[in-house]
Amino acid sequence: MAVDRRPLIAGNWKMNLDHLQAIAFTQKLAWTLRDARHDYATTEVAVIPPFTDLRSIQNLVEGDKFDLVYGGQDLSAHDAGAYTGEISGAFLRALGSTYVIIGHSERRQYHAETDDVVRAKVATAIRNDLTPIVCVGETEADLAQFGPSSLPVAQLRAAIDGLSPAEIVVAYEPVWAIGTGKAATEDQAQQVCAALRSALTETWGLDSGDATRILYGGSVTSSNISALMRQPDVDGALVGGASLDVIEFSSICRFLKHAV
Ligand code: PGA
Repeated sequence: MAVDRRPLIAGNWKMNLDHLQAIAFTQKLAWTLRDARHDYATTEVAVIPPFTDLRSIQNLVEGDKFDLVYGGQDLSAHDAGAYTGEISGAFLRALGSTYVIIGHSERRQYHAETDDVVRAKVATAIRNDLTPIVCVGETEADLAQFGPSSLPVAQLRAAIDGLSPAEIVVAYEPVWAIGTGKAATEDQAQQVCAALRSALTETWGLDSGDATRILYGGSVTSSNISALMRQPDVDGALVGGASLDVIEFSSICRFLKHAV
C-alpha cells in the first residue's frame, strides 16, 4: 500500500529578488497563505531564494513563526576549505535551510555540472542534514532521440549511485518546459514520474520508492497545477517564473482548493 506523501510546492526564485525584496515578498506570501487559511500539514511550501537572502528569510520565518520552509539553490560538494565562491552545505544548514536544489538544468548547462558532480553534491547535502531536491530532465533533442523517461531515469540512478537510502526529493523538469510556457501534459509528467519512482524502488527499495516525493517542474502555473497534482506519482511542483508572483504562487500552493 502506498504511503501518504505530503505534497511540496517549492518556489525556485533563481537569480531574482535581493534580500530586501525577499523580506517583503516572503512576508506577503506568508500573510496571503494565512488569510487563505492554508493548511501546511496538507501541503508544504518552500521558497528557494538566492544565497544572499537566506539570513533575512531565516530571521523573518523564525521571528514571526511562519510555517514556510526554505533552502539553497546549490551547494559545494565540499564542506569547507579553499573553494573561493562556493557555499558549504553546513552553512546552509546553520541558516535553518531544509532543502537544497541540486543538478538544476541551468547548473548542468551553464556550469558544466556532470552526473558525478551531482552525485557528490547529493552526498554532501545528506551528510549536512539537508534534503536534496535532485533535478533531472531531458532536452527536446534527448526526447526525440531517447523517448520520454530514459534520460531522466539515468540521471537519477547516477545521482544516487552507491549512496544509502536517505530522504531526498526528486524534481522531474523537462528542459524544454522550463521557462517556455510549454509545460508537460499531466500524462507526460505522470509517465516519467512513475518511471523515476520505479528506479528509486529498484535502487533503494520499496520504502524509499513509496516515501520519496517526486515533483514536476517546468512552466507550472495556477492553471495547470491541479491536473498535474491529480496524477498518482506527482507529489508537488518546483516552480520558477510563477513563484515570483505572490498571488500566483499562493494559488499554486492552494491547488487542493481549486475547482476540479
Ligand atoms: P519555470 O522554471 O517554472 O519558470 O518553467 C522551473 C524551474 O526551472 O525550476
